[in-house]
Parts: sequence; C-alpha cells; structure tokens
Amino acid sequence: MEFEKNILCIGAGYVGGPTMAVLAHKCPQFKVTVVDINPTRIAEWNSDELPIYEPGLDKIVRATRGKNLFFSTDIAGGIRENDIIFVSVNTPTKTFGAGAGMAADLQYWEKTARQILQYSESPKIVIEKSTLPVKTAQAMENILRNVHSSVTFEVLSNPEFLAEGTAVQDLENPDRVLIGSRETPSGLKAREMLVEMYAKWVPREKIITSNIWSSELSKIVANAFLAQRISSINSISALCEKTDADITEVARAVGMDSRIGSKYLNASVGFGGSCFKKDILNLVYLCRYYGLDEVADYWEGVVKINRYQQERFIVNMLSSMFNTLAGKRICLFGFSFKANTGDTRESPAIFISERLMEEKAEIVITDPKALKNARTDLAGAKGKVSFVEDPYRAAEGCHAIAVLTEWDLYRTLDYRKIYDTMVTPAYLFDGRNILDHKKCFDIGFNVYPIGKPPLTHLKK
Ligand code: NAD
Ligand code: UGA
Repeated sequence: MEFEKNILCIGAGYVGGPTMAVLAHKCPQFKVTVVDINPTRIAEWNSDELPIYEPGLDKIVRATRGKNLFFSTDIAGGIRENDIIFVSVNTPTKTFGAGAGMAADLQYWEKTARQILQYSESPKIVIEKSTLPVKTAQAMENILRNVHSSVTFEVLSNPEFLAEGTAVQDLENPDRVLIGSRETPSGLKAREMLVEMYAKWVPREKIITSNIWSSELSKIVANAFLAQRISSINSISALCEKTDADITEVARAVGMDSRIGSKYLNASVGFGGSCFKKDILNLVYLCRYYGLDEVADYWEGVVKINRYQQERFIVNMLSSMFNTLAGKRICLFGFSFKANTGDTRESPAIFISERLMEEKAEIVITDPKALKNARTDLAGAKGKVSFVEDPYRAAEGCHAIAVLTEWDLYRTLDYRKIYDTMVTPAYLFDGRNILDHKKCFDIGFNVYPIGKPPLTHLKK
C-alpha cells in the first residue's frame, strides 16, 4: 500500500509510543514508525505486554500495529526512509558536571541530532517533541547544518502536553496543540504541514502556532504553573493542620472563583512524575544562566515546598506513632506517582519508603500496576521491604497504612476487614485524601488526612 506520508519517531517511551499510536490510529493514510536504541523496549511494543500501562492504549496499538504502525530498532533505516522525524528521547536532569541536579541532560537528544545528520539522504522536517530548554532548536540547527551535502533540515517545536494515565484521551482530544517554527518561508511551510496533519482530528482553533522559542518555553512554563498550584495548595495544607481549617473546603472555596479554577488543587503527599521537578529545575537553571536570580528563587520554591510536604508526611507519621517507627510494619497503598499508570519516576513513594527504612520501619508495598518498577526503585535500599499485590494481604499485621497513590481501588476496599487484621492502635495516613475518614475512624482507625484535623481515639 502506498502511504501519503512516512513519519518516524525516535524514542519509544511514555511519549513516543502513545503519541505515535494515536497518530497512526487517527491517520491510516500515514505510515508511522517508532524506533529506539533499547531493543527490549521495542520487543515489548511488538508483544502483547506493552512496556507501559496506559488505559486504552492496548486497543489502539492492536488496531494499528503491523498495518500503519511499526516499532523497530533500525534507527539508520528509519531516518533514511522517513522525511518527517519526531524526536521524543528522554531529557532527564543532569547528574554530573556543570549544572548537575538542575540543567537538562541533552546527551540523548544531541546523539539523535547527529544520527539524523549522519543518515539523512533527503530533506527532513525534524520535530522536537521532547521537552527542551528554550533555544535548543538553535543548537539542533547548528548540528544539522551540513557542510558536506545539500540535504536541508527544518526544525519545528511541537511539545507534548499529555499526562500519564490519561494519555490516550489527552492525545485524542487535546486542550491545544502547539507548533513553533522559524518565521522564514521554509519554516512557515513546514509548520503548515504539521498543522494540516493534526487537523485530521484536532479542531483548527485548538491548533496554535508561535515562534519557536515561545513554543519551547511554553512547555516548561505550563508544567511549572501546574506544579506551582500543587505546591501552593500543599503549603496551605500545612497551615490547615495547625489551625483546624480543612484543605478540601478551602480548595473548594478558592477554586470556585472562575479566575482561579478548581483543577490541580488536590492537596497530596507531593507531586511526582518524571517531568514536573525536572522541568522546573531546568527553568530555574535557565533563569540563573540569564542572571535572573529572583525569578529562579521564586520557581525553586515550588520544588522546595514539594520536598517539605513529603518530609512533613514522615514527621506526622513519627509524631503520631509515639515518635518511633522502628520495627513497625507500615503498608504503602500505591507506589506509582499517580493513579492509572505503572510509572514510578520521582514518585513520592520512593522518598517515603527510603525515609521509613531510615527509621527502621518494615514496609509492605502494594500497587495494582507498579510493583515491577517499585522492586527496581528499591533494589539497592537497605531495610526490610516486601511487595504484595493483594491490598488485604499486604495490610495484615501492619501498624499503619499510608495511602500514597489515588487508585480508585483504595476507595472501595472493606476497611473493617482490613482493620481486623492489623495491629492496634491502627493508623491510616491518607496522603491523597481519598478515603471516607469519618467511616474509617468509626471502624477504629486513627486517621491522619492531609490538611485536615486528624480523627484519633488516642488520649492527648
Ligand atoms: P522515556 O524515557 O520513557 O522514553 C525515551 C526513549 O528514548 C527511551 O526509550 C530511550 O531508550 C530512547 N532513546 C534515548 N536516546 C535515543 C537515541 N539516541 N535513539 C533512539 N532512542 C533513544 O521518556 P518519556 O517519558 O517518553 O519522555 C520523553 C520526552 O518527552 C522528555 O523530554 C519528557 O520531558 C517529555 N514529556 C514527557 C511526558 C510524560 O508524560 N512522560 C509528557 C510530556 C513530555
Ligand atoms: C504532567 C502534566 O500534567 C502534563 O501536561 C505534561 O505533559 C507532563 O507532566 C509532562 O510534561 O511530563 P503527569 O506528570 O503525567 O503530567 O501527571 P499529572 O496528572 O500532571 O500529575 C503530576 C503529579 O501531581 C502526580 O504525582 C499527581 O498525583 C500530582 N497532583 C496532581 C497532585 O498532587 N494534586 C493535584 O491536584 C494534581
């Protein structure tokens, strides 16, 4: 079959896989190939057990794979055969050298740019899908400026705004698609091509265009604003706990102001995920680089509050359980960084587990999708930890339960049955405020929500 366009995506991760699966599903007239340096990942994409859990993704991959969606390790061949290339490789925080702990590590991205240059035999449109520091497109262009051949490259920025757990619905029905380009005739032409592509399923008014630097920067700023809302509400949750105010009531009252809005105001044990912290630190690094220390300090505060919130959770556990956790069994309900994903990158559960082990607690971890990743995350940890899929069995013989992920499953468990198998006094620390606190208290639990007065049977 002759396809209208041949599209390549380099990087078959949480973004590359779902993004390209939805593109292939929406546009059967395009051939979409996803390549990766990791052969295991590609083998998993080609198997019945996909490398990531994302609701609705299996169905789409099954409908398109082998028809117009292909997963391969042949990066060179992919670059030669496709003229539209999305780059969706990882851009983690640098762990070494200048900017360690703050700047984006661009080694994977630069390697990809060099591979594109090496294997290209015809003009290419290269699309940044990874989240990158503003001005990266300039570096991309400098690498791709090929003095030895007539092959030309146009670089576009098309950042991805999907959230894990809702990736398929976010991709099928995005709030907006952002496309940035150079404002040259060839830049505008490439931009128009990409607009047309998305217009196959996204309403035109939701496809916005901008200059390339605004596009790169908007992605990081969007994440910074979302994370800032969570740190704002979490900071207020600390004040609520001191004053008997209730964070859910405060968030409702504040969020009903249409200028403020109600989303991203759920107080929690802290935000996790591979991007919020990394992107804010990158923003902080950029601001410092440009001498904007006050701006950098402002945004750095969002990350500091997030760590403070996680530490506060541990301090609350300690102080309510007679200031010692040594030898106590604590069951963690949830390990993924949010519900409906198996992803545990930067999950607050990792920090909480490590801190609990420092206090010499024994931990039992349960999660419907993240136990494989949890085992890897805690492989080197010193302490007693076990992994049990069934939450009822996991809680048996425990002194406390800490809810760390807002899986729906945990809302509907039989907490009386659970209570009966636990050591008393039994504690419930709800790091997501998803349980019926009054009901759990009536069963016998000492209940510690986030940002609300605790409900306890203990004498003060
Ligand atoms: P990921 O680690 O899941 O996937 C990246 C993939 O790129 C890996 O499979 C890796 O093997 C591959 N890769 C690295 N170097 C390569 C190379 N030279 N050639 C071929 N493949 C290579 O990362 P992710 O979560 O998909 O994130 C990718 C980018 O998208 C990041 O910049 C991230 O900030 C951004 N982003 C992520 C999300 C999200 O929800 N995870 C959402 C929006 C944007
Ligand atoms: C986030 C953004 O929502 C996406 O738009 C963006 O594309 C993505 O980062 C990225 O660049 O990687 P994601 O991290 O997948 O998506 O998930 P979110 O739903 O935003 O949740 C992030 C964290 O904040 C989770 O730990 C979640 O539990 C927490 N959260 C969220 C709260 O604690 N309270 C809230 O009210 C909302």
